[in-house]
Amino acid sequence: MIKAGIAGLGRWGQTLVNSVHGKSDKIAFTAGCTGRKARAQDYCDEKGIDLRDGLADLLNDPDLDAVVLATPHSQHADQVIAAAAAGKQIFIEKPFTLDRASAQAAADAAAAAGVVLALGHNRRFHPITLKIKEMIDSGALGQILHIEGNLSGSGGLRYPPESWRAQADESPAGGMTPMGIHVVDAFLYLMGSVDEVVARSDRQFLQIPTDDTTSVMMRFASGATGYLGTLTATAPVWRIQVFGTGGWAEMHSYDRLFTCSVAADGTPGKEEMVEYGPFDMERAELEAFADACTGGPAYPLTPAEAVHGTAVLEAIIRGAENGQPVALKDV
Ligand SMILES: NC(=O)c1ccc[n+]([C@@H]2O[C@H](COP(=O)([O-])OP(=O)(O)OC[C@H]3O[C@@H](n4cnc5c(N)ncnc54)[C@H](OP(=O)(O)O)[C@@H]3O)[C@@H](O)[C@H]2O)c1
Repeated sequence: MIKAGIAGLGRWGQTLVNSVHGKSDKIAFTAGCTGRKARAQDYCDEKGIDLRDGLADLLNDPDLDAVVLATPHSQHADQVIAAAAAGKQIFIEKPFTLDRASAQAAADAAAAAGVVLALGHNRRFHPITLKIKEMIDSGALGQILHIEGNLSGSGGLRYPPESWRAQADESPAGGMTPMGIHVVDAFLYLMGSVDEVVARSDRQFLQIPTDDTTSVMMRFASGATGYLGTLTATAPVWRIQVFGTGGWAEMHSYDRLFTCSVAADGTPGKEEMVEYGPFDMERAELEAFADACTGGPAYPLTPAEAVHGTAVLEAIIRGAENGQPVALKDV
């Protein structure tokens, strides 16, 4: 059992704590810090979390093995570097950082300190994602040609103008940092590294200074292509669909896997659907982190992938400025 301190007790920090509190024998949150303490005090009292004044109070506590960072995006890089310097195992929420150089610096700091660096892309742990990966790796989908994905939601309709998420520097390229980065990570997991992106990002409806509609086309190192969409002013959706010469597989929301095969002579099979029961992705990722901290299997998302995912994000942010292709080798 590792003892962790949590920094950031907003919506997601509490979701992470709730996923393991009273359920896990691998990780327990015993201390925390947040922006305005009064907003989290009752919650911490209820969960037995010792609410401290700031991140330094967690980093200086020899009783804590690890820190989990669920703070605004622009703080991630410096906080990872500080946590590494303090020798704490690190779980960091997505987006890892906002540009490739800071991502590399944060990954290097963790490597130099010899601590685990785990990036919280919870959807990687979902059984449907793992099943699609298995279908790709086994050749069941033939040669992989293309992938599509969409993660959208209504956050833009709800953010008060003064909230950090409504600011262009915290949420560049619209839904990319809150949502689209999860699609990027699923693409990296299923398709491998990205060579080039073409992006556009528009504000058609929102009055706050972040975009509502962002689209990206990609070419992978394998030669396959992909595109993702992310909108911040619509109803929620999560969808990933992989296409190969043997058929396609689609994860639709978190409970359905659709598949359809095609024979070598082009004869299509019947579309099939398998339903999956509820699965706690946050508990799975935090326990995988705890396992990695206690000599178990390495956390399945490597720091190198975290850096590459951030480089893809930076390429998208840059590309959205003028609609021109951005090669990852130039980021
Ligand atoms: N994996 C996922 O599916 C998922 C889903 C949602 C969010 N997230 C990620 O989780 C992180 C937090 O997002 P959120 O939705 O929880 O935002 P949020 O509700 O605004 O929470 C952020 C929290 O961080 C606190 N904070 C600000 N500066 C801090 C600091 N220097 N040290 C400690 N705490 C600090 C804030 O306190 P005050 O409110 O008092 O300022 C707030 O409680 C982001 O990286 C986000 O992308 C991931």
